Amino acid sequence: MTDLTVRKLLIDLDTPFELRWNGGDAFTSALMYALSLSFPVGEQFFIDSLRRGVKELSPELQATFAQDIKGFIGQEATHRRIHERFNHHVLNQGMVNHWEKRALSRIEHINQKAAIHAVAITAAYEHFTSVFAAWLLSHPEFLAQAPARLQTLWLWHASEETEHRSVSFDIYRAMGGNEVWRRRWMISVSVFFLTDLLCQTINNLWHDGSLFKASTWRSAWRHLFAKEGLFTFSLADWKKYFSADFHPSEHDDQLSRQWIHTHSQTYQALGQST
Ligand SMILES: [Fe+2]
Ligand SMILES: [Fe+2]
Repeated sequence: MTDLTVRKLLIDLDTPFELRWNGGDAFTSALMYALSLSFPVGEQFFIDSLRRGVKELSPELQATFAQDIKGFIGQEATHRRIHERFNHHVLNQGMVNHWEKRALSRIEHINQKAAIHAVAITAAYEHFTSVFAAWLLSHPEFLAQAPARLQTLWLWHASEETEHRSVSFDIYRAMGGNEVWRRRWMISVSVFFLTDLLCQTINNLWHDGSLFKASTWRSAWRHLFAKEGLFTFSLADWKKYFSADFHPSEHDDQLSRQWIHTHSQTYQALGQST
């Protein structure tokens, strides 16, 4: 896999932003708020799961994965810290994080199972984030009306998710994880993720006062189900996870590499994992 660089974002996250920060669009702002509210707890779970999983590998395999793990943890720990700062403004504007409470109770349950299950769940979520990142990076119009600093936040995160998309999958395979559980967990993760995303987005829209407006649901249709919408565009990539010969690296990373190359003024590279 490519070397993973940890990057410190050079953007202002102290100045508050509008509730409908994405060009005044209530639906897309609420949708992205929902995702962001899930990141601090979710990304900590991914870090903890891979730490647990890698301990079960032979010393030789631990050495093989050492740099990937270091890069993965460095990137995810940075994401969760930055999104906590973003979320601070979200919560100050009246949103309530219900997703985190549900996730914490599920994590407690998962952590009682063997580590390989936590790693399989992480690999499934990482596929989701990689598919979402591909859509975000290939549809620049989605964030075009957002403040530049928030465009940077989301596209930096999307680029790094693309960069480290294979780490949890490779560790699952190295642990001897089988195909049956890999697919089973993807189905469970898909149900939980989409339900959580829907519930939190609806709750955000309710707090925003725009839940019952026709313009909100027109935006939802356009951004999710129209020809280039998130779900329509991503369905084929999501399904690839169920193929026996699937590997996350088959997902093209050109847009991620391009964004990182052309936006070097927006971050400080803190070092590579090798
Ligand atoms: Fe992340
Ligand atoms: Fe990730």
